[in-house]
Amino acid sequence: MNEMNGQQGGEQHEASNGKMNFTRYMIGGLCLVLFLALTGVGYVQMEERLGGGLRPFISGENKKCIDCHMAKDVAVGGINDWKYSRHAPKGIGCIECHRAEKGEPDAYDHYGSMVSTLVTPKDCMQCHDKEAKEFEKSHHARAAQFTNSLDNFLGNVVEGPEVITTGCAGCHGSVVKVMENGKLHPSTWPNSGIGRVNPDGSKGTCAACHARHSFSIAQARQPESCGRCHMGPDHPQIEAYYESKHGVMFSANKDKMKLAQPSEQWHPGKDYLFPTCATCHMSATNAQEVTHDVGDRISWTLRPVISTRLENYEVRRKEMRRVCASCHSEQIVERFFTSMDQGITLYNEKFGKPSKAAMDKLLAMKKITPTPYDEEIEWVFYELWHHEGRRARHGLSKMAPDFVHWQGFYEVAKHFYTKFLPLVRERSPQVAKELLAQESHRWVEKGMTKEEIAQMLEFYDKEMQGKRGGG
Ligand code: HEC
Ligand code: HEC
Ligand code: HEC
Ligand code: HEC
Ligand code: HEC
Ligand code: HEC
Ligand code: HEC
Ligand code: HEC
Repeated sequence: MNEMNGQQGGEQHEASNGKMNFTRYMIGGLCLVLFLALTGVGYVQMEERLGGGLRPFISGENKKCIDCHMAKDVAVGGINDWKYSRHAPKGIGCIECHRAEKGEPDAYDHYGSMVSTLVTPKDCMQCHDKEAKEFEKSHHARAAQFTNSLDNFLGNVVEGPEVITTGCAGCHGSVVKVMENGKLHPSTWPNSGIGRVNPDGSKGTCAACHARHSFSIAQARQPESCGRCHMGPDHPQIEAYYESKHGVMFSANKDKMKLAQPSEQWHPGKDYLFPTCATCHMSATNAQEVTHDVGDRISWTLRPVISTRLENYEVRRKEMRRVCASCHSEQIVERFFTSMDQGITLYNEKFGKPSKAAMDKLLAMKKITPTPYDEEIEWVFYELWHHEGRRARHGLSKMAPDFVHWQGFYEVAKHFYTKFLPLVRERSPQVAKELLAQESHRWVEKGMTKEEIAQMLEFYDKEMQGKRGGG
């Protein structure tokens, strides 16, 4: 009111007070601009953090959970994370996810509400049916089923059983056990392994990629979300990705990636230009929907001793090619897959198949014991395919030449000729001979021809200023 009176007064004395008025209007105007600018910035920040710039909607029931947790300082970080999620403004709060029915194995009475600590794919399915069904049919959902594998024997027996819960299960998933009071057994939870076996019979956890309680797609689209598990000596997808041109371009342009856009506005080649893991394996394109089955677009399995094509591999390959074609010409994509397939076939034919055949023969001849890992040759063979051979193949799929060669085929070849071959020969010269039967291994016995040696010497003399042994 006072301001308005003042303004009216100002109008009455316009002629005499013109200069002062001008100053006042200027200051007022500047204040307004400043106010708008500040609220604008504030608004944008809120918009980025809160789903759609809206405030959390807190129902009476959820208010009880939140008030008590805040007062007792329990999981305050989680609650604040939730506040900025897309769920919060829609009123999808604590009880919508944690509600449980009496009789469910992991339900317990929690200050008057039946809740469970776990929120499984079955719970998310109420509202995200498509994602949950696709995930359910994926290999991801089955990742905790490794009990009878060679790796399991390695972890459980050769290393020690604690490795299974604290190592393997961290990535693959635990079998969650519930104690009598409905609470979860500490050796099986917390766990966000991709194929966790839940007490309600569902498999996996959506929180493996969408960390609670933000459940942000921006975070899930970051390569690191996958790289938490897809890393290391036996499946270095993230390392290979960051070495590839795709990874380099992503890193250099992260701020232009618009990672928080909803999937229908996150199409490669249009809304953003550099692919992440999600782009190739999950995200939508102009012609494709998001898939939560990460196997939908891969045509090989690059994991076993010998790689094989998956069922319906042509369809899967086509799906992947459509992703590439969002950014590239068909010709580049065709050339890439031709050489990738050739690289995988080289590994299979030259190293994978012959070394497996040699191990099978030695076993049949009782030259090795049926117990894995009790002889050096078994470790050498294991690393040959499980570490080095996989690295070569994963490098091929990620357009990462360093992984294809130095960390892949180079190590494969070195250990094949200098470790595996002598260990086979020790046990059976005949099997060693058969191991080298292919033309591609003949160089070992034949060596270089005189001409080849002469050519190499000349190359170093002329091109490399006589520095032999470089390169
Ligand atoms: C009167 C206080 C109070 C209320 C109301 C309350 N909580 Fe809790 N909550 C706690 C305390 C204290 C803990 C930690 C100790 C425990 O597990 O009981 C806890 C723990 C939890 C846990 C973790 C349990 C575990 O196994 O690690 C979950 C999940 C949880 N609360 C969810 C909820 C939900 C959902 C609601 C609302 C329906 C809610 N809480 C209401 C006090 C409360
Ligand atoms: C969109 C679903 C969702 C909502 C909404 C949600 N949670 Fe959770 N919450 C989860 C998931 C998923 C987990 C991880 C449990 C698992 O491993 O299955 C979890 C775990 C927890 C835990 C145990 C882990 C920890 O970090 O201590 C607590 C406590 C908890 N929630 C409390 C709450 C409270 C309080 C609210 C309301 C502000 C809430 N949650 C809202 C899905 C949800
Ligand atoms: C009661 C229904 C309901 C439940 C239960 C629920 N959600 Fe949602 N969720 C929604 C709605 C509605 C949206 C869309 C919000 C919007 O459009 O802003 C959403 C959005 C999302 C998004 C997109 C977030 C983003 O950044 O764009 C993810 C991811 C998600 N939910 C995952 C989950 C997971 C995982 C669970 C289980 C742990 C779960 N939701 C449980 C209703 C639900
Ligand atoms: C850092 C996370 C991580 C750890 C720890 C880990 N794994 Fe894995 N494991 C993976 C990933 C990721 C794959 C899939 C690799 C791929 O697709 O190239 C995999 C693949 C496998 C496979 C092959 C599955 C198939 O379908 O062919 C088995 C078996 C396996 N792991 C068992 C184990 C066991 C047993 C342990 C512990 C001794 C273990 N893993 C430790 C992440 C992990
Ligand atoms: C392997 C990692 C991973 C797992 C596990 C996962 N998600 Fe996602 N999810 C993603 C990624 C990445 C996106 C973003 C896709 C894109 O680029 O649009 C996404 C997107 C979503 C969206 C938004 C979809 C849309 O079309 O906008 C929802 C909802 C969602 N996930 C729910 C779930 C539920 C429910 C589960 C468990 C059944 C789950 N997710 C498990 C990685 C994962
Ligand atoms: C919590 C650990 C974990 C996370 C996070 C994870 N994965 Fe996996 N992934 C695995 C394991 C373990 C396997 C092997 C499953 C098996 O065969 O038993 C696997 C297998 C795969 C496969 C092969 C699928 C098939 O059908 O053979 C692809 C592709 C894949 N993951 C892509 C991704 C992408 C992309 C992301 C991120 C958006 C991701 N993963 C996040 C653990 C994880
Ligand atoms: C530019 C596209 C592209 C990007 C980016 C990409 N991949 Fe792949 N990925 C592929 C292709 C192509 C294959 C092999 C497809 C086939 O089998 O035909 C593959 C295969 C895989 C496999 C299957 C391995 C197996 O054992 O069979 C996994 C797991 C995987 N990628 C994970 C990832 C992860 C994790 C990231 C990010 C760190 C990533 N990919 C980034 C294109 C991509
Ligand atoms: C989101 C867009 C996008 C997608 C999707 C994409 N790429 Fe690329 N790709 C790029 C960009 C950008 C570059 C770098 C171009 C440059 O050199 O400036 C690149 C580079 C390449 C190169 C050249 C690598 C080099 O070392 O010079 C190959 C090969 C390639 N991509 C193959 C593929 C294949 C195969 C797929 C699908 C499996 C794919 N790309 C998916 C954007 C994409």
